[in-house]
Amino acid sequence: MMIRNMKDVMRVGIIGGGLMGREAASAFARWFVLERFPVRVELVAVCDLQDTLLDWFRQIPTVRLLTKDHRELLASPDVDVVYVAVPHHLHESIYLEVLAAGKDLLAEKPFGIDLAAARRIRDAAVASGRFVRCSSEFPFLPGAQRVVDIARSGKLGRLLEVHSCFWHASDLDPSKPVNWKRQVRYCGEIGVMGDLGMHVVHIPLRLGWNPVRVYSQLQKVYTERPDGKGGFAACDTWDNAQLHCDLEVSGSTVPMRLEMKRLAPGATNTWWVEVLGTEGGARYSTAEPKTLWIFERQKEQRWVRIDLGFQTPFPTITGGIFEPGFPDCFLQMWAAYAAERSGALEGRFGCVTPDEAVRSHELFAAGLESHQTRAAIAV
Ligand SMILES: NC(=O)c1ccc[n+]([C@@H]2O[C@H](COP(=O)([O-])OP(=O)(O)OC[C@H]3O[C@@H](n4cnc5c(N)ncnc54)[C@H](O)[C@@H]3O)[C@@H](O)[C@H]2O)c1
Repeated sequence: MMIRNMKDVMRVGIIGGGLMGREAASAFARWFVLERFPVRVELVAVCDLQDTLLDWFRQIPTVRLLTKDHRELLASPDVDVVYVAVPHHLHESIYLEVLAAGKDLLAEKPFGIDLAAARRIRDAAVASGRFVRCSSEFPFLPGAQRVVDIARSGKLGRLLEVHSCFWHASDLDPSKPVNWKRQVRYCGEIGVMGDLGMHVVHIPLRLGWNPVRVYSQLQKVYTERPDGKGGFAACDTWDNAQLHCDLEVSGSTVPMRLEMKRLAPGATNTWWVEVLGTEGGARYSTAEPKTLWIFERQKEQRWVRIDLGFQTPFPTITGGIFEPGFPDCFLQMWAAYAAERSGALEGRFGCVTPDEAVRSHELFAAGLESHQTRAAIAV
């Protein structure tokens, strides 16, 4: 039997072992689902400040270093790639340290707490020559990939409009305790745009749909929440953001609506995208993970419903008729990172680039300005 050599192994260290750090560990643990994939992954080191979380990672046999000091992790010669999943106010300092340590980086969104931080991280990434990408997983779902393929096929005719949305609902419960994502000093002034925005811009930006103008509607509804200690704490981030953008496509101005909502009645974690043209269109939502809607204008106009299977960008051993979910697209995103880092992406959809992350921040900064001035802002 052939044993792969060390060149094929991507050795990962995680800084921030909370919700997403553990999600990454679980993706690595299921890496064997990928078929004929050129890179193996090994989680070798984890850093978090909480003992209970470090204890959780003890169940992973490949983890050789557990530490509360990220500098110790960065000093380890065993680590090739660092995944950083910490609150937004720590992004810039830790990302820059990862690059200074000579490691590759999969950054979490929003890639810095604000536009200035994102630009500094992007510039450091370029100067370092390290492989740096940012997390955004939903485009790796089969339905999302089909929408991308249709948008690129030239079969849409003239582009009419684009919608890209990410809706949450649990904040509608006023008794939900506050957390760092609801506080400007940790989450950033852009609030929900920083939290959910990368998910809605990844596909449009990759398709070349760069907003030239934006008019925003931002809403703050709950201004305090239980602090979990019997009192209340200020909750000062934007809850909902709607960005009404203009695109310039083939000499025409095309509207694109981006919605990022923590207060979207009934929507648990609903990410959806729709592109409409004069000749065709497509719509996909995680609310119906197996369903792709395609618009066709022939003799009659019709929306056709397609029952999707498990046709992920990177083939897996999972049965082709099974339905995909969040852990699957997150693993596929990591596969895209590993493949692109090894020069094996082969034209497939890739993770968010540092330039795209900066562009997302330019849009969100313009969104803040638009809300303040009640005017459309050039991006
Ligand atoms: N891609 C996605 O779908 C997705 C989903 C949720 C969150 N995120 C992003 O992931 C990042 C983390 O979010 P989360 O939901 O996992 O948060 P979380 O609060 O669950 O986890 C953050 C962890 O970072 C640890 N931490 C804080 N300071 C640290 C330090 N100095 N050194 C080491 N560890 C430290 C905390 O102890 C905590 O365990 C954020 O950037 C967030 O926007 C992405």
